[in-house]
Amino acid sequence: MELTSAPLHKGQLPWRGLLLAASLLTYWNSPATAQVTVEAVPPLVAEGANVLLQVHKLLEDLQVFYWYKGDSGDESNEIARFIISTNMNTTGPAYSGRERIYRNGSLLLQNVTEKDAGTYMLRMIKINYDSPTTSVQVHVHQLLPKPNIISNNSNPMEGEDSVALMCEPKTQNTTYLWRINGQSLSEDGKRELSDDNRTLTLLTVVRNDTGPYVCETRNPVSTSRSDPFTLNITYGPDDPIISPSNTHFQSRTNLSLSCHAASNPPAQYSWSVNGVLQASSQELFIPNITTNNSGSYTCLVYNSVTGLNRTTVKIITVLEPVTLPVIQVTNTTVKELDPVMLTCISNDTGVSIRWLFNGQNLGLTDRMKLSQDNRTLSIDPVRREDSGEYLCEVSNPVSSKKSDPIQLDIIRELTSAISQSINPQPPTTIWAPLTTLLISPPPWLTVHRGHSSGVRSPAR
Ligand SMILES: *[C@@H]1O[C@H](CO)[C@@H](O)[C@H](O)[C@H]1NC(C)=O
Ligand SMILES: *[C@@H]1O[C@H](CO)[C@@H](O)[C@H](O)[C@H]1NC(C)=O
Ligand SMILES: *[C@@H]1O[C@H](CO)[C@@H](O)[C@H](O)[C@H]1NC(C)=O
Ligand SMILES: *[C@@H]1O[C@H](CO)[C@@H](O)[C@H](O)[C@H]1NC(C)=O
Ligand SMILES: *[C@@H]1O[C@H](CO)[C@@H](O)[C@H](O)[C@H]1NC(C)=O
Ligand SMILES: *[C@@H]1O[C@H](CO)[C@@H](O)[C@H](O)[C@H]1NC(C)=O
Ligand SMILES: *[C@@H]1O[C@H](CO)[C@@H](O)[C@H](O)[C@H]1NC(C)=O
Ligand SMILES: *[C@@H]1O[C@H](CO)[C@@H](O)[C@H](O)[C@H]1NC(C)=O
Ligand SMILES: *[C@@H]1O[C@H](CO)[C@@H](O)[C@H](O)[C@H]1NC(C)=O
Ligand SMILES: *[C@@H]1O[C@H](CO)[C@@H](O)[C@H](O)[C@H]1NC(C)=O
Ligand SMILES: *[C@@H]1O[C@H](CO)[C@@H](O)[C@H](O)[C@H]1NC(C)=O
Ligand SMILES: *[C@@H]1O[C@H](CO)[C@@H](O)[C@H](O)[C@H]1NC(C)=O
Repeated sequence: MELTSAPLHKGQLPWRGLLLAASLLTYWNSPATAQVTVEAVPPLVAEGANVLLQVHKLLEDLQVFYWYKGDSGDESNEIARFIISTNMNTTGPAYSGRERIYRNGSLLLQNVTEKDAGTYMLRMIKINYDSPTTSVQVHVHQLLPKPNIISNNSNPMEGEDSVALMCEPKTQNTTYLWRINGQSLSEDGKRELSDDNRTLTLLTVVRNDTGPYVCETRNPVSTSRSDPFTLNITYGPDDPIISPSNTHFQSRTNLSLSCHAASNPPAQYSWSVNGVLQASSQELFIPNITTNNSGSYTCLVYNSVTGLNRTTVKIITVLEPVTLPVIQVTNTTVKELDPVMLTCISNDTGVSIRWLFNGQNLGLTDRMKLSQDNRTLSIDPVRREDSGEYLCEVSNPVSSKKSDPIQLDIIRELTSAISQSINPQPPTTIWAPLTTLLISPPPWLTVHRGHSSGVRSPAR
């Protein structure tokens, strides 16, 4: 409860009031008063703000009313009084210079401090000398100062150290909240919070405990946040990663390798090739490489704080680009049902070869056979649908080249006229112009934009 407003009813006088009534006749307290109430506005007061002790239903037949600090009604605690007949106020010993008393009974407290917290009592003296009292509690809350985070270990080691983060200063009636990367943080197996949440303990830190951490303090009138706090966790180096990831490079190009390893503080890098130190840097650059630059490339990373080092080795092969292959065939005109053999001639070794037919990857039928290295394509027996353009492509990991195409024509012998009538398919060579005809429509086949039906009658 931030506010207590106690209307006094018949028979509810505190014993102190009775004593007072006995000793001071003028302050004689009549319990027979109506429902005067006092309310603190606003109910929660921040230090430095104002609060009005607002009186509701102030009695009408009053001579004077007094405001006291505390609930004893001692003369020494009088803040001020208001004399109805003269409409005048006077101040008492407890007046601080920041209070104002009003005709309607209310008391304004300005620029309050924590010392102003407590009970305030209103005493009213009626014409008949009845002197009812009522009181109100004032709770003053500190405006929270900006907290800051202190750590008991400025350089924790990953996997080894635990760290306690403390949110300073300790203030009363404050709740503490921790955030990491903006997310509010609660206890789990790796983190412990003290009972008041003011201390966060990270058990066995890992690198993603780095933060930033923010401590937030709250009380009923204010919220305050610390500056972000980042832990300097020592870790690594991890195994380095060399980029780019390819292992084959073309000769007469520039070789540019980069090495990266997660590490704090940042790792020191060095490169060696076939065991010989080449560079003490993160990047390695060798211009215009030749096949002699093939070998094992080692990136070494070293963290001077952890004293650990790690290496990654990459085997690099520098290759010449492949030369242009040529296709050899005994005769490009072949009689149907005869065998034919195409050979892809290339001076390169360690290459892979594939065949293309009419611009597409050659689909092998059961009449076709490739040699183990794909260099030789045998078709036995050939059929008319094998007519077309053949070429071979030679490639290694850094380059590929296609031979000039050769046109293979399968011709029918006159004696095979019977087979033609059985199989009335026109030869593939005739299909080609037909296809082009279908793909590009003649100019009179005009397609009008905005119409859903495709082909229209000639426009002119
Ligand atoms: C008393 O009344 C005077 C005149 O209205 C005012 O200036 C002063 O602030 C009042 N004092 C208190 C304690 O309210
Ligand atoms: C009493 O007077 C003060 C000052 O004029 C005013 O702010 C307050 O609202 C009044 N209280 C009531 C109950 O009218
Ligand atoms: C409020 O009080 C503080 C000290 O308690 C003082 O520095 C400040 O000037 C006061 N402000 C007003 C408006 O009275
Ligand atoms: C803290 O809260 C308690 C109970 O609500 C109260 O008694 C005490 O005065 C408060 N302290 C401060 C400094 O606000
Ligand atoms: C401490 O924080 C947790 C959540 O992080 C919360 O559930 C708990 O109530 C808090 N305790 C105190 C005393 O503020
Ligand atoms: C931290 O790393 C662990 C595993 O290494 C992971 O499970 C956890 O989600 C990470 N936490 C954050 C905040 O990234
Ligand atoms: C982190 O700690 C290392 C020493 O372990 C120090 O060299 C480095 O400067 C620190 N980094 C920051 C950002 O403070
Ligand atoms: C690269 O080296 C070759 C000899 O290996 C040389 O002929 C060529 O001019 C060099 N190219 C450049 C750009 O230096
Ligand atoms: C790397 O570590 C190995 C053993 O862990 C050690 O022999 C070597 O000297 C270290 N190299 C450097 C450059 O620190
Ligand atoms: C290729 O074969 C066709 C048909 O068998 C034949 O007419 C032609 O003479 C041959 N050409 C060569 C160069 O052998
Ligand atoms: C293969 O190499 C020889 C000599 O080294 C050369 O005469 C021939 O033209 C080359 N053939 C191709 C297809 O490059
Ligand atoms: C031979 O060709 C097939 C398919 O065209 C391909 O999958 C295979 O890798 C090739 N082999 C060689 C040695 O080039």
